[in-house]
Order: sequence, then structure tokens, then C-alpha cells
Amino acid sequence: MADPVVSDPGSATVAEPVRMPVRVLVFAGSLRTASLNKKLARLAVEVVRGAGAEATFIDLKDYPLPVYDGDLESASGLPPNARKLKDLFIAHDAFFIACPEYNAGITGALKNAIDWVSRQDGDEAGTVPYDGKVVGLCSAAGGVMFGIRAMEMLRGILMNLGCLVVPKRLGVPRASQAFDAADRLTDPGQIAALEATVQQVVRVAAALRASP
Ligand SMILES: Cc1cc2nc3c(=O)[nH]c(=O)nc-3n(C[C@H](O)[C@H](O)[C@H](O)COP(=O)(O)O)c2cc1C
Repeated sequence: MADPVVSDPGSATVAEPVRMPVRVLVFAGSLRTASLNKKLARLAVEVVRGAGAEATFIDLKDYPLPVYDGDLESASGLPPNARKLKDLFIAHDAFFIACPEYNAGITGALKNAIDWVSRQDGDEAGTVPYDGKVVGLCSAAGGVMFGIRAMEMLRGILMNLGCLVVPKRLGVPRASQAFDAADRLTDPGQIAALEATVQQVVRVAAALRASP
């Protein structure tokens, strides 16, 4: 990623460097329109902005991808939506991912997107979109396990790709009962956990950018 420090070349005095805000890409691992994880992700966007960082919300449904197939990749390269997702990943310092739990793991849609984005494109190594990115996780899960199995699986996948997944996280069990009519979490403990997780992502990403 480019040097985030910008200075005013027209200034006669030596100006204090202006630190650009941390940029966080926020998305959910679910495609469905009424996704509870998209609700969590949208709440996270507010918290990111409240923490002084920039948030970009994307919906994976807007980036439909074929199931990864090496023959397809050999024949026609990276699908355009995979390249778009790669560019979005590269342009952000951090990711905040709301990760549904399907059969004790992550969704096929999320894994497929991660897999396509991890593919080498020309001279660009596959790890470029991931390496050094700070990641926060949350999960709105249908069951009582609060999505811990999906978040652990996702943490392992992303750490393997070079991401730094922060230890704080939010798991929402029985998530169909967790939101009010305005799509806000009703449990103060869950709200606090979402805030703490986002704030840790922003702080760690800012510290990493400030380090030489
Ligand atoms: C195929 C499938 C498998 C699921 N497996 C689990 C599971 O292992 N644990 C769990 O807590 N919920 C499970 N659920 C429930 C989902 O976590 C729940 O529907 C959740 O709301 C999905 O996320 P979304 O609302 O963002 O689409 C499963 C749902 C589906 C469709």
C-alpha cells in the first residue's frame, strides 16, 4: 500500500505530516438480502466511522463469482469481479468481516471469494491483497455457539494469507432474535463487543501504518 503520509508541497514551513485515516473494508459472508450478518456489518460501518476511520461497505452479492475452477482460471484468467475485489482489498488497510456459520464453518460464498482473491494475477502475488491487513471478525449465528467455529476457521484462513486477525471479536447467538425493528442490536454487551472489536482493528491498523 502507498505511504499514507501526505504533506503540503506548497507550504514554506515544514508541515506536520497529515495522517490519512485508516481505511476499513466491511462486508458479510452471506449473499442473502435479509442477512443478519449484513446488519452486523452495517452497524460496524457506523462504529468504524465513529472511531475516526474510513469505512467502505460492500455486498458480496454485487460481485458474483463462479465457483473456483482451475480450468476456468487457466482458460480465461481471473473473473472481472475477482479483480474488482482484489483491488478493493488492496486499497484498504483493514477488513471487518461479519461471518455467518454454516455447518460449523464459513460459507461457500465467502471461501470462494477469498480463494479467487488469493490467486496470482500476472506478476502480482496472490498474497498482496492480504499481507499485513488487520482484520476484525464478528458473527451473527443461528445457533447457540455464536459463530465461534466459523470465526476460528476464518481466522486460520486469513492468518495463513498474512492477515493479522485481532483477538477481540463479537459472536451473536440466536441472531434472529438479536436485532430490533431498526436493525440495531438490543444487547448492550454485544454492542460493547462490536465497538471494542472495531476499535482494536482501527488502533492496530493505525499503529502498523505509523511504524516504519
Ligand atoms: C447451510 C446452513 C448451515 C447452517 N449451519 C449453522 C451452524 O453450523 N451453526 C449455526 O449457528 N447456524 C447455522 N446455520 C444458521 C445460520 O447461521 C443463520 O441462518 C444465519 O442467520 C445465516 O447468516 P445470514 O443471516 O447472514 O444469512 C446454518 C444455515 C445454513 C443455511
